[in-house]
Amino acid sequence: MVIKNDVKSIKLAGIGKKRTLWAEREMPVLRSIRERFIKEKPLNGVKIGCCLHVTTETANLMITLAAGGAKVQLCASNPLSTQDDVAAHLVKDYGIPVYAVKGEDKKRYYSHIVAVLNSAPEITMDDGADLVTVLHTDKKYRALLSSMIGGTEETTTGVIRLHAMAKSGVLEYPIIAINDAQTKHLFDNRYGTGQSTIDGVVRATNLLLAGKNIVVCGYGWCGRGFAMRARGMGGIVYVTEVDPLCALEAVMDGFTVLPMSEAAKIGDLFLTLTGDIGVLRKEHFKVMKNGAIIANSGHFNVEIDIPALEKLSSEKKNVREFVDEYVLKSNGKSKSVFVLGEGRLINLAAAEGHPASVMDMSFANQALCVEYIVKKSKLGGLKKNVYSVPVDIDKKVAELKLKSMGMNIDKLTPEQVKYLSSWKQGT
Ligand code: NAI
Repeated sequence: MVIKNDVKSIKLAGIGKKRTLWAEREMPVLRSIRERFIKEKPLNGVKIGCCLHVTTETANLMITLAAGGAKVQLCASNPLSTQDDVAAHLVKDYGIPVYAVKGEDKKRYYSHIVAVLNSAPEITMDDGADLVTVLHTDKKYRALLSSMIGGTEETTTGVIRLHAMAKSGVLEYPIIAINDAQTKHLFDNRYGTGQSTIDGVVRATNLLLAGKNIVVCGYGWCGRGFAMRARGMGGIVYVTEVDPLCALEAVMDGFTVLPMSEAAKIGDLFLTLTGDIGVLRKEHFKVMKNGAIIANSGHFNVEIDIPALEKLSSEKKNVREFVDEYVLKSNGKSKSVFVLGEGRLINLAAAEGHPASVMDMSFANQALCVEYIVKKSKLGGLKKNVYSVPVDIDKKVAELKLKSMGMNIDKLTPEQVKYLSSWKQGT
């Protein structure tokens, strides 16, 4: 049978297989879920439409869902994050329809989302909420909404969009915010983004981070992780923020906090990790040092105002893979500013995304939440809203991860249980 797909080359499947198996070694929690799914088939016949970064870790999640009996289809959640060999591997060795090609243009990107919707999924699994948005806004697909039993959303930006949809009363089915799980954002966003963003910047530039002024825009979960790791590499780290609490935390963590108008003048490397629009703008580019390097690790490529940079520039040229030089004229002199990975998530564009060990927890939450949605649908279903990951699932993932690492923890004694639930503590 010919499996529907749009991948770069099916010949890459062999490399994708090797790399996916390598990632699997670091995903013991997902593996244990897969073993149970093989026996129990909790997702039998359920159609799941997935819009995720097509990486080796995602391949392991797709294989797990299919092992549980699900019929999965996959498209990319970002035009630049696809690993073409992995896409080919899923099609060739697992018969999973995949629509994703690294570097696809906007039109092809959306045609891939539509291809997944054409399979009439009952569950969506999204990273950034593009799949859910097309499903809700394109008249051709709205008819599918009535048969949707639920969805999951992987990232902060997607969760923000879904909350806005629920608030406006337009969200038509229940979605679980995977990002809200402690075993997701505390580890994936912080340690995953921290390490993989450094990896992306270094692979794109081969820059020595030691001694560089590194400006981290946004001190949320991703920003904290990146700032911590950038300092560890010897960078002199500055933080910009708009939230006083996050800014205060950055100060107490030992970073210098300052507004972007000042940071723009001193940074050698700028990293945006906010989920916000126009964090680096015209007025900032104008005062940047010659040679400044700018990259983004937030979900969308809107954090750096690239159209404004283009307008300011007399010339743009690609000087190295993933590095574009913009030549600006200021006060009669010309200077260069370099943008990495077209302002798209640099950890996925120029590197391989998060290490498998951390995605093990995020994707264990995904697999268990899909199972939860299916169970709930048989009991009348969830309401049209955005839900947090059930605490039991979150704790289970933490327990399994610790176990896989060979770590044991203490249990409360009956006396401690009684003490901790009493208001007479200390007496
Ligand atoms: P978060 O909500 O924990 O942190 C965002 C921070 O940015 C907040 O502290 C906020 O106050 C700050 N901020 C907002 N606008 C700002 C501005 N104009 N200037 C300075 N600071 C500003 O969000 P989180 O989890 O850190 O995610 C950030 C982005 O990264 C999201 O788009 C998310 O989807 C994405 N993400 C990317 C990953 C990757 O692999 N590259 C992995 C996980 C999340």
